[in-house]
Amino acid sequence: MKYRFIHSCILIIFFIFSWLLFETSSSLDNGNNRYFGQYVGSFNHNWNNIITGDVYFVNKHTLFLYNFSFNGQESDVYFKVGGHNDPNIRSNTDGIIIPDELGRFHQLGRYRNQNILLTLPKGISADKIRWISLWSKRLLKSLAEIRIVKTIAVPELKSLGPLINTKDSVKAKNIFAIDDKTILIRKFHYNINCLRCGFFVGYGAIPNSFGIKIPDEHASFSKLRNYYNEDIILRLPRDLSLINNIDWFAIYDPEHNKCYGYIRIDKKNLNIPPSMAFMLTYVTLFSNCEQILPGLMHISWEIRHPDIYIQLEARIASNQYAAFGLSGSFKQSKMIGSDVFVTYYDADSNKVVLEDFTVTGKTQCNLQTGIGVCPDTLVGGNNDLELLMSSYIDGLIKVTFRRSISVMRDHQNDLPFLIHDPNPIVAAIGTLDTHKNPSYHTVAVNTKYHQSKYRPMTIVNFGRKNPKRNCYENLWDKVINEPANIFNTIANSQVSETEIIYELRPWKPAIIKTTNNHVFHVVIGPAGNAQQGYTSITGQESPGIAFWINDLLIPELHVVRGHDYTFLIETGDNRTDKKHYHPFYITDSREGGNPNNFSINHHIYAGIRFHDGIADPQPGTGRYCELIESSRVDPAFIYSIEDYRKTLRLYCGKGNVGSFRWRPDNNTPDTIFYQSFTEKNMGWKIKVTSSSSTMMTTTLSQILLLLETLAILTSIIIVLL
Ligand SMILES: *[C@@H]1O[C@H](CO)[C@@H](O)[C@H](O)[C@H]1NC(C)=O
Ligand SMILES: *[C@@H]1O[C@H](CO)[C@@H](O)[C@H](O)[C@H]1NC(C)=O
Ligand SMILES: *[C@@H]1O[C@H](CO)[C@@H](O)[C@H](O)[C@H]1NC(C)=O
Repeated sequence: MKYRFIHSCILIIFFIFSWLLFETSSSLDNGNNRYFGQYVGSFNHNWNNIITGDVYFVNKHTLFLYNFSFNGQESDVYFKVGGHNDPNIRSNTDGIIIPDELGRFHQLGRYRNQNILLTLPKGISADKIRWISLWSKRLLKSLAEIRIVKTIAVPELKSLGPLINTKDSVKAKNIFAIDDKTILIRKFHYNINCLRCGFFVGYGAIPNSFGIKIPDEHASFSKLRNYYNEDIILRLPRDLSLINNIDWFAIYDPEHNKCYGYIRIDKKNLNIPPSMAFMLTYVTLFSNCEQILPGLMHISWEIRHPDIYIQLEARIASNQYAAFGLSGSFKQSKMIGSDVFVTYYDADSNKVVLEDFTVTGKTQCNLQTGIGVCPDTLVGGNNDLELLMSSYIDGLIKVTFRRSISVMRDHQNDLPFLIHDPNPIVAAIGTLDTHKNPSYHTVAVNTKYHQSKYRPMTIVNFGRKNPKRNCYENLWDKVINEPANIFNTIANSQVSETEIIYELRPWKPAIIKTTNNHVFHVVIGPAGNAQQGYTSITGQESPGIAFWINDLLIPELHVVRGHDYTFLIETGDNRTDKKHYHPFYITDSREGGNPNNFSINHHIYAGIRFHDGIADPQPGTGRYCELIESSRVDPAFIYSIEDYRKTLRLYCGKGNVGSFRWRPDNNTPDTIFYQSFTEKNMGWKIKVTSSSSTMMTTTLSQILLLLETLAILTSIIIVLL
């Protein structure tokens, strides 16, 4: 028994060395680490037409052109692919024209070192392609082409086999790599009681204690629930990739360095597609680009009369919006009177939203007067933007849309794009209110950034004769290095034209909806500052620390009568160390505490037992674990409890975890509280109901639907972490 354990999960000094390797190889700053699929060949034509760039097979349906340039000197040129080994590619009847990066059959314009995805028409599969050409219909000839002489294996989903060296009640029938950031576990069975077990990935020959925990199928890091032969999909966050930097995937217990089953990832035979969501972060659709808010927002565009195509790319947290638009003045950047495009990620519908707004005041929209930051549709205008593509991944939003350059007469709220003159613009990033309306901006276009060497832009030359991509920073790399939820670059900004109205917005209180046998894991953590944390949620004073349950600050627990609940408690067990002794119990007292004197009104439901009238908190007592705040993070720039949690680190003392089970019944009131036995105001509400709700699981059909969606490249939204 002992021997087998050592065999499957050895922990030796060697891995410290491997870890160092892993650390250095996991950075995306190094361009060699980007995985775009199978390299096919390069255009390298520098004669009368300049055509350069590398072509990759992403998957059966998709080609990726990396660093693609075409000077656009020849008219009537299209992308064309063919299935015959004809070396001359002369015949007009051979091959087929394929749509451009926006699905159009327009003749190609100019491209400047751009990255684009091309989707093959239905019925054409990448493995059948023998040449890829820039074809001139006018000249009836190929201007430049890549010929595929040897067969290139197209990346596809790959089985990695079942979990091996499994222990106890952990099993999985098969594990698939859907792409380099997505793992599908078929028939996953997990039924053990393990506090810190999770899905781990890492570097080295076999699972070891230097692995990295990845979130579960609901993007959560909480204690694993039980699984009964379920199909689940896990996504590797940020720069983790099966191809680039992972050797194993395991169900692992970091506390006891115990492995409950793993698979090795054999990179040599891993011809899987790159993650389409990740590819989208690399797409640079248009031949013009400007860093409007350096490090935060880029705009790229292309004019195709009578329309302008725009892509807005911005780093925003999940409760923020990005806005870009035409200034209210033809001379300078002015918010009042501007026509702006507002975009944000709506977690409820899992969609990126794009809306046309008119700004007539620095307040929220007043529907009666039409003054404020008003959506055009509410003040008699039209939402005449056509959304073409969108994604939101790890705090990077990308939307691509089309609008007409000029303004139709009945569209009174829209401004025209000036394409013969420099056009003053406005841009902002700000917070959404609880109704998802933009509040006045947090960062304006005139904001100066103390850290960026680039200056924000206030005037854009949309119609410039020579298109140019002036976007030097890759926003995705910035997302990996400084996640969007810590906007430290904004902190010392100055404003000239518009003032920054910066308010601390209360964090949205957390709620845990439960199922029968739900497990609550309680530790101590900071209460957050008064405007956002404990006090803003409860309206009560706070001692500065509070209970965190399942990684959430004082969540409201929604429980059901007749269901069983388990509480695992790590809130201190050393009676003499008053500061670190907070037995956990359930009561009808709004404040709790007061250990020596339970009045009649202070009813106890669980966590405390009585011996001869003396309260004994032993059931709700366990070793001490505390989430510690990092001094480098300013909570004012954190927008949610989940984001705040990511800045905290958990430290635990020695001892045993306490636990008790509890079943609310018909005598349990609708609202009760969980509290500390020794200190007032550390816990919060429990809502008790009599009906139960069902839980969602991912079915295989949903997975197939997801794959379908990825393949046809429509809007792809990946739930953020
Ligand atoms: C892109 O291509 C140009 C030539 O058109 C080359 O100078 C440049 O180094 C390439 N950039 C990358 C990142 O490969
Ligand atoms: C309990 O706390 C006291 C006071 O801080 C300390 O002296 C003692 O060593 C602690 N006991 C244990 C078992 O950690
Ligand atoms: C307990 O509460 C009662 C009434 O509120 C008070 O008279 C008594 O002194 C308290 N005892 C202790 C030990 O605090």
